[in-house]
Amino acid sequence: MAHRIAVIAGDGIGTEVMPEGIRALEAAAKRFNIDLAFTTFEFGSCDYYLEHGKMLPDDWFEQLKDFDALFYGAVGWPDKVPDHISLWGSLLQFRRQFDQYINLRPCKLMPGIKSPLAGREPGDIDFYVVRENTEGEYSSVGGKMFEGTEREIVLQETVMSRVGVDRVLKYAFDLAQTRPRKKLTSATKSNGISITMPYWDERVAEMAKQYPDIAVDKFHIDILTANFVLHPDWFDVVVGSNLFGDILSDLGPACTGTIGIAPSANINPEGMFPSLFEPVHGSAPDIAGKGIANPIGQIWSGAMMLEHLGYQEAADTMVKAIEDVLSEGNSQVLTRDIGGLGNTLSLGHAIAERISG
Ligand code: NAI
Ligand code: MG
Repeated sequence: MAHRIAVIAGDGIGTEVMPEGIRALEAAAKRFNIDLAFTTFEFGSCDYYLEHGKMLPDDWFEQLKDFDALFYGAVGWPDKVPDHISLWGSLLQFRRQFDQYINLRPCKLMPGIKSPLAGREPGDIDFYVVRENTEGEYSSVGGKMFEGTEREIVLQETVMSRVGVDRVLKYAFDLAQTRPRKKLTSATKSNGISITMPYWDERVAEMAKQYPDIAVDKFHIDILTANFVLHPDWFDVVVGSNLFGDILSDLGPACTGTIGIAPSANINPEGMFPSLFEPVHGSAPDIAGKGIANPIGQIWSGAMMLEHLGYQEAADTMVKAIEDVLSEGNSQVLTRDIGGLGNTLSLGHAIAERISG
């Protein structure tokens, strides 16, 4: 049976890196006998919005819900459509309606990439950030009263459900279980946020009982961010609420160099709905149309998609191909953001060739 993949390139460099993501996936599919069927959609882009007055057609849920995965490029073109409209009208709809309650980002220092942290080598930074993606601090519970007067008040509540907390923790513990170091770090702030964060800590302690071989520690978010910079080698799997995870999942990849290579996954682990795989970067209007965008974030996201679909060896081969091409350091091949003279195509082709073996 073919795995049905919905392809949404989106805007700007999304349309340039997507073909390289697919090229790499097709190379892996051929080598490992995986049947992938890609279907391309024009919606979820600002051009679609300009034509139709909305980011997605009304029946997008029906159109997409039976796919095995969504492969997204990037969305946003602030000169044409305000970011809150383009992002809320597309990506955030998928994350919510498809209950993609895990946001997963690997933070791995690759060969040939200079970390902004002095003296760090590949191997020193290799961990995952697991972010809760549906509740927590990003709730719409709250309101405004006495607007425009001196009595004006605003209120926004953090919502943590037992189901919501436990399911992200379970995912993170399960992930730690698959890793050689078997270590889990929880992001908290139970010294300052005195109701929800102690609850989060309690659920971590409860979940830890079911994973006796996982080493668990926790840090308050303020010192944790400092430790990402000072001691990135301490971490293996880091789990946080929606807000803390949001912060950590930008800081972590930033510690590993360029934004052009970082991948991410929005996962519905039970497979009730398709999961979504996308590079961390946006549509990069400043370099769009020049053919120089780094395609690695898109390709690596494709590797995460294959891993999610159950093809660990194919996924590992894709990541290894990225590492090999980076460590060869051929300046004619590498893109400019990583010190080369090449372009999107040269780097995409080199990685696809390597995947083919
Ligand atoms: P951005 O990630 O698009 O660009 C930030 C900087 O990194 C730019 O200088 C860009 O040239 C560079 N860059 C990004 N990806 C690169 C790549 N693959 N190769 C080489 N250089 C790369 O973030 P920015 O400029 O804040 O946002 C631009 C648009 O993208 C906005 O509309 C924003 O809302 C949207 N956006 C969408 C995201 C998504 O689709 N998940 C994520 C982040 C931003
Ligand atoms: Mg963010």
